[in-house]
Amino acid sequence: MGKGGFKRGEIPNAEPVHVYLFGKSVDVTHFLRSHPGGSKALKIFQDRDATEQFNMYHSPGAHKKLKLMMAHAPDAPPTSGVATSPVGADLRRCASSSPRRASLSPTTRTSC
Ligand code: HEM
Repeated sequence: MGKGGFKRGEIPNAEPVHVYLFGKSVDVTHFLRSHPGGSKALKIFQDRDATEQFNMYHSPGAHKKLKLMMAHAPDAPPTSGVATSPVGADLRRCASSSPRRASLSPTTRTSC
């Protein structure tokens, strides 16, 4: 048992948590405990881009909630998004070098 009767990992919102979504740095510190997908799902994206995962798991209602949370959020660092991730860089390289870019598909992957 740690200080104040909390077990390790149970101290409520000890540190601020920010997740990068749609180019914004969203403060989810006070949302950790009520997120229906659990606090872990948010914490593992601390200071990382989760736009792709957000799009995978959420209803229009969740998008609406996020919009409210993003209203006053500062911009995420420019290097944080999928556009600058390795897969994003590969896609950019592919799109600019392949004359067949209009037909990009899993089968053209090896030729890029
Ligand atoms: C501020 C950002 C977020 C908001 C406002 C939010 C909101 C919600 C809401 C309202 C739900 C209930 C289902 C729905 O209406 O779609 C939900 C479920 C869920 N969320 Fe999030 N979420 C956020 C970020 C994330 C992130 C970064 C992840 C990472 C993977 C995540 C993973 C999940 C999962 C897996 C569920 C499904 C839980 C289940 O159905 O058992 N969420 N979230």
